[in-house]
Amino acid sequence: MMVVEALLGAGLVLFELVGSNRSVGRAVVMPLHLVSTSVLTATLALVAWWSRPAESALPAGDRGLARGVSVALGAVLVVSAAGALTALGDTLYPVQAAALGERWAADQAASAHFLERLRILHPLLAVAASAYAWVLAGRARKRLASRAGRGFAGAVLALTALQLVVGSVNVLLSAPGWLQVLHLFVASALWIGLVLLRTEAAEPRTRAA
Ligand code: HEM
Repeated sequence: MMVVEALLGAGLVLFELVGSNRSVGRAVVMPLHLVSTSVLTATLALVAWWSRPAESALPAGDRGLARGVSVALGAVLVVSAAGALTALGDTLYPVQAAALGERWAADQAASAHFLERLRILHPLLAVAASAYAWVLAGRARKRLASRAGRGFAGAVLALTALQLVVGSVNVLLSAPGWLQVLHLFVASALWIGLVLLRTEAAEPRTRAA
């Protein structure tokens, strides 16, 4: 994944998909770059988790719950890829400080670029995916026996709620740089929380709480 990341980054520079480039190619590579970063982050998190010695007398795994978390992981990946498109749109067409209704009308105007039209997609998908992740993590917190599994479920619950707030404030403040960084940081933490919840649900490495 480190090699894939490096190749995607090099491709962005070599094909000049940077600066004010408004091509469809850039709108394809940016989400791909985010997906590859997410897979690299998941790999690193799993290597770190699996490098800890497992405890003894482990509870059984919960395959059904693990499958549900896999679906949530896929949903968050799609949401994040759509977020990368929104971020690209914000870079090329900075959001004007105006009432939400006026901004929506400007984004949907006949002359608007497709990245401006797509701005609405990410928040809509995010709310649906967050609701699913929230319900699932609540169930995991009650159902999972493993100590770490319950901890990861609690972290996913908190991070999902926090991300909904940070994302909404991001829209209201027209995405200032510091808030974009915070939003991306919470997205990465939520992603890692789900990855660890998935592995602990399937094959627990810690004893019952
Ligand atoms: C599960 C919840 C969410 C996840 C995982 C998520 C993830 C992301 C990611 C990965 C980006 C791209 C960051 C970048 O490449 O710089 C992004 C951008 C963005 N998101 Fe979200 N997001 C979530 C919820 C929301 C919600 C609920 C809203 C609004 C109501 C929102 C508004 C935005 C906006 C305006 C951007 C573009 C500006 C920026 O880069 O920060 N997000 N999001």
